[in-house]
Order: sequence, then C-alpha cells, then structure tokens
Amino acid sequence: MAASPEEMQACYARGEEARRLEQPNGVVEFERTTEVILRTLPPAPAVVADIGGGPGRYTEWLASLGYAVHHRDLVRSHVEHVSGLALPAVTTATADARDLDLPDASVDAVLLLGPLYHLAVREDRVQSLREAGRIVKHGGPVFVAVISRWAPRLDGAVAAELSIEFPRMTEFVAEVEASGDLPALHDGAFCGYTHRPDDVRAEVFDAGLDLVDLVGLEGISFALGDLGERLADPARRAVVIDSARALERVPEVMGVSPHLLATVRRPS
Ligand SMILES: C[S@@+](CC[C@H](N)C(=O)[O-])C[C@H]1O[C@@H](n2cnc3c(N)ncnc32)[C@H](O)[C@@H]1O
Repeated sequence: MAASPEEMQACYARGEEARRLEQPNGVVEFERTTEVILRTLPPAPAVVADIGGGPGRYTEWLASLGYAVHHRDLVRSHVEHVSGLALPAVTTATADARDLDLPDASVDAVLLLGPLYHLAVREDRVQSLREAGRIVKHGGPVFVAVISRWAPRLDGAVAAELSIEFPRMTEFVAEVEASGDLPALHDGAFCGYTHRPDDVRAEVFDAGLDLVDLVGLEGISFALGDLGERLADPARRAVVIDSARALERVPEVMGVSPHLLATVRRPS
C-alpha cells in the first residue's frame, strides 16, 4: 500500500525534522551530501533552489557560503521555520516540487533532497525531476536524493531493531522490498517510496535529464552502535567517512547506504 500525503504531513507534524541532521546518522548524511554537492556546484555567488528543503539546514549552509537561495517546501511549518531564520538572500514559500513558482532557467543549481522520498506515484517523481530541470539553467546541476530500497530492513529492522516494538516488521520490510512503497509503520512514522539504483537512473532519463553520477552516501555508518563516539574522534571519524566515500560507486554495496545521491544535469 502506497504512502498518502496525509501520512507525510503527520510525520512532519511531529516536529522532529529540524534536529534530524544533528543526530549521528544525520551528521554523516550531511557531511557526505555536502561533499558530493561541492564537487559540481557552481561557485558562489550563484542562485540555488532548495526544493523540499525542510527546516532549511542545506539552505543555511548555502547562505553561509554566499549563495542566494530559493527555499521551497510542501510543509508549512518548515517554511515558517526557515522564514524565522531571517537569512540574507533567502526566499522561502510553500510549494509543490511538481509545480514550482520559479521561472524557467532562473537558477544555477537545484537541490532536490526530499520530494522523491515521499512521492509514491512514479509519474509524480518524474514530474518533480522535470520541474527541477525546467528551473535550472541549461547545463546546470540538479542534486537528487532518494531512500535506498533496503534502508527499512538494514536501518529499521537490523540497526534500530524496530521488530521488538513492531512485530510485523519482518513482513513489512518484505513488502517494501517487493514494491518500493513505504507506508507508515505506525502513526507519524516516516513514509514514502524507496529506490533501487536503477529506478533512479530510469526516472532521471524519463525526465529528460542527464545522469552525471550516482553514489551511496553513508556506507554502513548507520549500523555502528557507537557512531556518535566515533564521530567525536577525528581519526575514527575519518575511517567512517573515508570508507563511505571509497565504496560510494561500488555497484554491489551502493544500496546498503540509507541514501543515494544522484548528480544530474539539464542538457545544454
Ligand atoms: C526528509 S525531509 C528533507 C529535508 C531537507 N531537504 C534535508 O535533506 O534535510 C523531506 C522534505 O521534502 C518535502 N517534500 C516532500 N514532498 C514534497 C513535494 N511534493 N514538494 C515539496 N516538498 C516536498 C517534505 O515536506 C520535507 O520537508
């Protein structure tokens, strides 16, 4: 059963998203995401759209580097949060990634780090990619994050041991792996769609965009019970981050990472 828009709103109504990237798993996700983005992002000053920008952690980062940012999100409380940050050269508004209020070819780069997690219908995901391609300048990059097909099992069932609290977890992950659909496991739980690497490639192709790169972000860091301690020690932190980077394009293990990040371009 596919996730509904109401389930997504219920998930973010919990108000936990603003702190997510401060948790150990989120620290690795943010560090690796920004590292991959910086490989291709045009230098500042430039204009970046952060579509599905949530409470604005990436918008804040971009603004701190001297970029002008158009932040958009479907959840009103996230837009209010970003508005409250009062960042210079940042606009924010409620908007749907499938139908944006930004003009054609008006930005130098687009971050699409969230909408594809939540759009359960394939044509909606392709449409959000088309919209990102429409607003970016010809040849400009779009950074697209998705949830790996195997994250519910590896992160949810194995690392977080959710089957202790939710005995139907075993059947649940088997259903997710068969269809990709990720309904909410309980009231307010994360829900949406999970991708195989080839799903990402096919959706990008169908949106008329060129795939430049596709990487796994976190490696097995999410499974380390002492991840917080390792991140606090520079040498141990480097082993975790360097290993994730070293394996980022290995086809056999790419999908072990909870997130995949595609770098794509609007054709010139
Ligand atoms: C997990 S959060 C990620 C937030 C931020 N980009 C990050 O990576 O930390 C996913 C975000 O995508 C937003 N989102 C989901 N579907 C969307 C859509 N169709 N249009 C715009 N935003 C959407 C959600 O409201 C949520 O804020």
